[in-house]
Amino acid sequence: MNAHYIGLMSGTSLDGTDGVLVDFSSQPLRVITAASEPFPSDLRAELLALNAPSHNELHRAALAANALAAVSAKVVKRLLAQAAAQGIAPSHIKAIGAHGQTVRHQPQRASSSPSGAGYTLQLNNPALLAELTGIDVVADFRSRDVAAGGQGAPLVPAFHQGVFGRTDRTVLVLNLGGISNLSVLPPPGSGPVLGFDCGPGNALMDAWCQQHTEQPFDAGGAWAASGQLIPSLLANLLDEPYFAKPPPKSTGRDLFSLTWLAQKLAPFAAHRPEDIQNTLTEFTAAACFTGAISYQKNSEELIVCGGGAFNLHLMRRLQAGLPTLRVVTSSAHGLPPLQVEAAAFAWLARQTMNRLPGNLASVTGAAGPRVLGAIYPA
Ligand SMILES: Nc1ncnc2c1ncn2[C@@H]1O[C@H](COP(=O)(O)OP(=O)(O)O)[C@@H](O)[C@H]1O
Ligand SMILES: [Mg+2]
Repeated sequence: MNAHYIGLMSGTSLDGTDGVLVDFSSQPLRVITAASEPFPSDLRAELLALNAPSHNELHRAALAANALAAVSAKVVKRLLAQAAAQGIAPSHIKAIGAHGQTVRHQPQRASSSPSGAGYTLQLNNPALLAELTGIDVVADFRSRDVAAGGQGAPLVPAFHQGVFGRTDRTVLVLNLGGISNLSVLPPPGSGPVLGFDCGPGNALMDAWCQQHTEQPFDAGGAWAASGQLIPSLLANLLDEPYFAKPPPKSTGRDLFSLTWLAQKLAPFAAHRPEDIQNTLTEFTAAACFTGAISYQKNSEELIVCGGGAFNLHLMRRLQAGLPTLRVVTSSAHGLPPLQVEAAAFAWLARQTMNRLPGNLASVTGAAGPRVLGAIYPA
C-alpha cells in the first residue's frame, strides 16, 4: 500500500504553514522531509482581521483562502523537490492533509442556531490545492466531529498516542501553538486518552511582542526573562472561567482575542512592556501547568511540541510549575517541535483515505468515532 502522505498545518500563531512528507510504512513513522513557509505580512494581517467580524468578509475570506492555497502549494513543491533526491516522486504521495486556517471556532451548541449545532471554520481552498499539486487533498477535518456533538478539537491526541504513548506510564504531550493543547496518554487499557485546549499558547505573547518590538515573537523568551512578574496582572489574566471548565473543552482566538487582552491589560498601562511580557509568559505557562497538574500521577515527562518549545523562558516556567515531571521537547523523542502537528495531519489524511476514524470521542466529546474530512481528488 502506498504509505507516503504530506501534512500541512497552519495554526493560530498565524506564522505560516509547516509541512512534512511522512512514510507510514515503517513503525515508527519516518519523516522524509520537512519545510515551512512564512505567510506574507499582508496575508498574515488579513487572516488576523478575519478572526473577527468585519466588512465584506465572505469575499475577503475566499481570497485569503486562495492565498493560503498558494502558500500550501509552495510548501508541497519544496517537500517534493527535497524528496526527489530520495527517489520519491509526486505519484508516490497518496494524499495531502491540509488543515487550513481557523478563523472561527464555536463548537458549543448555540441557542440561536435552528439546529442547535455549533461550527468551526478553517479557511482553505483544497480544490485549488489539488489543482496546483495534482495530488488528492483531504481537508475540513474538524466539522464532522462538531456535527457529531464534539469540540472538533484537539484532533492530535490519537496521533500523539501512536508516536509518544508508552505501555508503562502516562505520557503528557503539550503543543504550544497559538493556542496550547494537552494530550493525556495513559498506558493502553488503563483509561481513556484525554485531550483539551489549555488556553493561550504563543498568541498573546506574540501580540505584545509585535506591538512593542520589531519582532514577530520573543525569540527564546529573552525579552520576557528581562522583565519582572506583575502578580496582580497574572491574577487578572487567570480570572477567566475557561480555566476551571472540565474537559472536553476547546478554545481559540474567539475567546482569547486581542480585545480580551486589551481589556485585561488596560489597568496596567503604566507598567514596563518587558514586565507585561514576563507576566504574559507566566500566564501562558500557568494555563498549561494548571491543565496538566491533575494528570501528572504515574507520569514522568511532559513532552512539548509546537514553536513555543523554542521559548526557553517559557520552558523554564513550565518546569518550575511541574517540578515532579521532566519537561523536554519532542526532539528528545525523534520528532522536532514544528513537525509534530504537521505529521498529525498527514496521519489524519491517511485515516480518511483508509475510511478510518480520526477523532477520539473521549477527547472531543463527540457521539462516537467518525471518519473526518472531505477528499478533493487530484
Ligand atoms: N525561537 C523561538 N523563540 C520563541 N518562540 C518561538 C521561536 N520560534 C517559534 N516560536 C513561537 O512559535 C510560534 C509558531 O509555532 P507553531 O507551532 O507554528 O504554532 P501554530 O501551530 O499556532 O502556528 C511563533 O509564532 C512563536 O510564537
Ligand atoms: Mg505555525
